[in-house]
Amino acid sequence: MKWPKHGGQPQRIRQLFSLSEEQTLLDFSANINPLGPPEAVRRLWPTLLERTLTYPDMDYSDAVEAIARHSGVMPEQVLLTNGGAEAIFLAARLLTGGTALVVHPTFAEYEQACAHYRVHVQLLIADPEQPFPEEEVMQRMEAVDGMFLCRPNNPDGTLLPRDSIIRILQSALRTNTLLIVDEAFIDFALEPSASLAPLLHEYPNLILTRSLTKMYALPGLRIGYALAGTEHIQAMAAQRLPWSVNTPAALLTPELLRDEAFAIRTRRWLREEIAWLKPRLQQMHFTMSATCTNFYLLRDSVAPSVDKLYPFLLQGGILPRHTHTFPGLRGAALRLAVRSRNENERLLERLAAWQASGSDGAGVNNQ
Ligand SMILES: Cc1ncc(COP(=O)(O)O)c(C=O)c1O
Repeated sequence: MKWPKHGGQPQRIRQLFSLSEEQTLLDFSANINPLGPPEAVRRLWPTLLERTLTYPDMDYSDAVEAIARHSGVMPEQVLLTNGGAEAIFLAARLLTGGTALVVHPTFAEYEQACAHYRVHVQLLIADPEQPFPEEEVMQRMEAVDGMFLCRPNNPDGTLLPRDSIIRILQSALRTNTLLIVDEAFIDFALEPSASLAPLLHEYPNLILTRSLTKMYALPGLRIGYALAGTEHIQAMAAQRLPWSVNTPAALLTPELLRDEAFAIRTRRWLREEIAWLKPRLQQMHFTMSATCTNFYLLRDSVAPSVDKLYPFLLQGGILPRHTHTFPGLRGAALRLAVRSRNENERLLERLAAWQASGSDGAGVNNQ
């Protein structure tokens, strides 16, 4: 089976599983905030449309200043990008011709970005159910020019402790290794001050990449940014395509970041929803990874394989994210977004039907 590499591709999954067009699918495979987009997007849309008649400001000064204020850094430490993806690619480009370490299971795009810029990738496949292999990472640092980490990590939503990051950064300073930490989901993090941005003042070998896609539910607009020391920001800016961020995206950025109430409401909703979901899943003998963000890995503690559960959920109108393309997981879990209460209830109903069927999906009405 040729599994798609990203979530959020219902059409592709429909074809793979020969599902009819009438079959509606609730997309639990894309991790987009169900409370978004914020009200400002609709309100400002007519103005934004008009402003597409002009080129964006080449330096994106207003957006950059808003990001700097939001992140507690100087504007010279900010680069606005076309989604978090562009920030990841520009960071990988700094390692062109060198070697990078990627600790799996994690987001696939780090390897894609490295392949694009002829960065040789070394893989470290960790067991997501065991503590992070910090010692091994530090031992392997000597041999690489850069390293990618995802925090909170996609696919399990866990947050590598700041102490651990500091030890890795110190070791990376000694070996002259660049640490690229993807904080695409950091604005959801339930732990206050989870971001590593304050460390940028001390560690010139740290680059953070972030996304506004997930929090503000705007994957089609493409807004992200990088935070780093001025030298790295200048080097990345020199490689960025002119006007890579469009006018509406640049104009919206300060508005989105100003809406602190929206972010607070989102974190409150997420905390409540996880607290509601977790015990209910446990009662049904499913486990939820120790997530601090808006997605989690689901495992069936009775039947370790989820190969049959995946099509069973699909037939019930639930689209999970398979994990076949995550090294170290090889399909042993499903990644699910935390969605609205109503939708989470639909998920639980379908999981209950799975349990009632004897965990092989037989003997229940699939509709
Ligand atoms: C961990 C992670 N980082 C970065 C991205 C890229 O996000 P963007 O849409 O902002 O390019 C994604 C998208 O799925 C992601 O999951």
